[in-house]
Amino acid sequence: HSEISRVRNFKMIHMGKHEVETWYFSPYPIEFAHIDILYICEWCLSYFPSPLMLKRHLTKCTLHHPPGNEIYRDDNVSFFEIDGRKQRTWCRNLSLLSKCFLDHKFLYYDVDPFLFYCMAKRDEAGCHLVGYFSKEKQSADHYNVACILTLPQFQRQSYGKLLIEFSYELSKVERVQGSPEKPLSDLGLLSYRAYWQEVIVDLLLSTEEHELSIDQMANMTSIVPADISHTCHALHMIKVYKGNYIICLTDAVLEQHQRTKAKKRKTIDPSKLVWKPPT
Ligand code: COA
Ligand code: NA
Repeated sequence: HSEISRVRNFKMIHMGKHEVETWYFSPYPIEFAHIDILYICEWCLSYFPSPLMLKRHLTKCTLHHPPGNEIYRDDNVSFFEIDGRKQRTWCRNLSLLSKCFLDHKFLYYDVDPFLFYCMAKRDEAGCHLVGYFSKEKQSADHYNVACILTLPQFQRQSYGKLLIEFSYELSKVERVQGSPEKPLSDLGLLSYRAYWQEVIVDLLLSTEEHELSIDQMANMTSIVPADISHTCHALHMIKVYKGNYIICLTDAVLEQHQRTKAKKRKTIDPSKLVWKPPT
């Protein structure tokens, strides 16, 4: 019965060295609805009902990185660009996996209109998927991210911010401003706000301009003016001075910024991005 399969889903997924709890229903085939743990091949993202079947598969699976062009590589992470139409099965498997951690409904089989930017950590065994974001090949609304995910086994280690930063680096190369598709999840919104805040404060602290308009800031960061202005409002950084709106850094914002910077998160080095916007 379809109602039952919607609520009854496996509780755990096993992937590489990790076992994590699922958060939401994901429409894997019905025969997987009643198992306890779903075994996922960390390379091709195929799924199996038992460890033995995964083990057998692994002796044959030849993939050791996400199946696309490597467009970025630094000391430990790489980004791969994957075309949903060319790698349909892999991208559908990725969408099924992501749905385990995403609340909203989406069409997991309709991957053709999207590019998938997959971030992986490299070691001797290969490039292990950490997270990704999808991006519409043609977005009428100037969205630069459709869906974004850090696999739960890698969350809260700043990879989300790294993915977000990468999405804006692509927009900078395209010379456009971008914004994530709405609605964002609570965790998505928290991560974006943290990223926007960090970038805006960095910019205000480093600029040599005496006056900087929101439009200028948008051009420099590829963050759309609405997201910059919301962020500044939320942080109480917009003040009226002699009849004009001005942005000013508050002590509270500066203190928070110092704490963020003290964590020294990994960042994207734009000179390592080898990419031309797809035509
Ligand atoms: N609780 C509170 N704040 C959180 C948080 C949590 N569980 N997760 C992220 N944040 C905030 C924090 O401010 C954090 O910065 P800090 O660690 O310096 O305080 C900031 O977001 C960025 O965190 P980061 O570690 O870079 O993010 P992440 O790798 O955990 O990934 C998501 C963030 C949104 C990608 C991840 O939570 C996820 O995949 N969620 C499920 C899918 C989803 O909801 N996607 C968005 C909608 S499409
Ligand atoms: Na979304």
